Amino acid sequence: EEIDIKRNIVLPGLIDSHVHFRDPGFPEKETFKTGSIAAACGGFTTVLDMPNTNPPTNTKKEFLEKLKIAEKKSVVDFGLHAGVDDALEIKKIAELKPASFKIYMDLIDDEHLLDIFTEIKRLPEDHLISVHAEDKDTVKECTDKMKSNGSIDPEIYADARPPLAEDIAVLKATSLAKQLNSSIHICHVSTKKSLDIIQEAKGENCRVTSEITPHHLLLDASYFKKCGNIAKTNPPLRDKKYALGVNELEKIDVIGTDHAPHTIPEKEKIVWEAPSGIPNLETTLPLLLTEVNQNKMTFGDIKRLLCEKPAEIFNFKNKGKIAEGMDADFVVVDMKKEGIINPDEFKTKAKYSPFKGFKVKGMPVMTVVRGNVVMDNGEVFENSGKIV
Ligand code: DOR
Ligand code: ZN
Ligand code: ZN
Ligand code: ZN
Repeated sequence: EEIDIKRNIVLPGLIDSHVHFRDPGFPEKETFKTGSIAAACGGFTTVLDMPNTNPPTNTKKEFLEKLKIAEKKSVVDFGLHAGVDDALEIKKIAELKPASFKIYMDLIDDEHLLDIFTEIKRLPEDHLISVHAEDKDTVKECTDKMKSNGSIDPEIYADARPPLAEDIAVLKATSLAKQLNSSIHICHVSTKKSLDIIQEAKGENCRVTSEITPHHLLLDASYFKKCGNIAKTNPPLRDKKYALGVNELEKIDVIGTDHAPHTIPEKEKIVWEAPSGIPNLETTLPLLLTEVNQNKMTFGDIKRLLCEKPAEIFNFKNKGKIAEGMDADFVVVDMKKEGIINPDEFKTKAKYSPFKGFKVKGMPVMTVVRGNVVMDNGEVFENSGKIV
């Protein structure tokens, strides 16, 4: 069937290397259905889902169960990151070729970190390790200190998980990767210093890549004051002094949204009890196209950061599955279409955003997955996504 794209521009389908679809376990926050519909509306044709569901994706059985859920519900293509818990399960999950093994450094200590790196190194094939880089001890020490001062001002959260916690974790992860010749991907890099550490490690032949979220790229700590817990995320938004921006994009490998939906009642709790996370699937491409319209970014940047690099890093081709860009996954964008970010119009269950009220110019108007139109002018059509 022919598709009329008028005077619009075609880009390769975007890959989101980092989403939390909360399925199984938290249907009030999101499901694979609602999350993947949000992805289609945002111009994403492939998503890689994180393992911190309930149960977490830490065993072969849970991995296969989530695969079944995704196959049944996803309207876009997908892959799954695996959690790490027990050595035997790491071996079993490895056979299923997960997008990566994800390690939350804010939750495990150094000894366990070394064990996991070693287990993954022992596998018969090379596997990527994704890292949430915030050092557990530093986070604990700083959080305890901020809590004990009695303040519940949302702004203090930035000091409860300071840049130092991230910088230390990035240093630890890259040192280990160098020593063991492991391949690692640092999720949501948010400070200039960590990016410098990654650059230096790359220069020393460390196999490390970096990811940035749209909020760490475009916002800073002042939004925590403006939006309260709506802007609460881990790692936190940074003071201008530490924060990264579009000028640093050439040093970054991937933009991943870290789409992390929660409910509004949860977000209305006090700062220490409200969950962290921002839903980004429907705002990312309009925000980035706006940067392109303002000549601060190029289409080439979008293709590299949200398509070519993620496909390469997460090894789509060598998994013997569909190679992205070769299966008619694309997104049509209207560079003249203007709008204002309005969370009430989101398809994700999480109808909030620190980008609320942002003016955008440039929006996805059609998303095509393996030749099937899945979104046309905001309307979504059922399609069964496939594993990549
Ligand atoms: O802000 C965050 N939200 N950071 C994480 O590491 C987890 C995520 C979530 O799952 O909500
Ligand atoms: Zn994370
Ligand atoms: Zn995340
Ligand atoms: Zn595809």
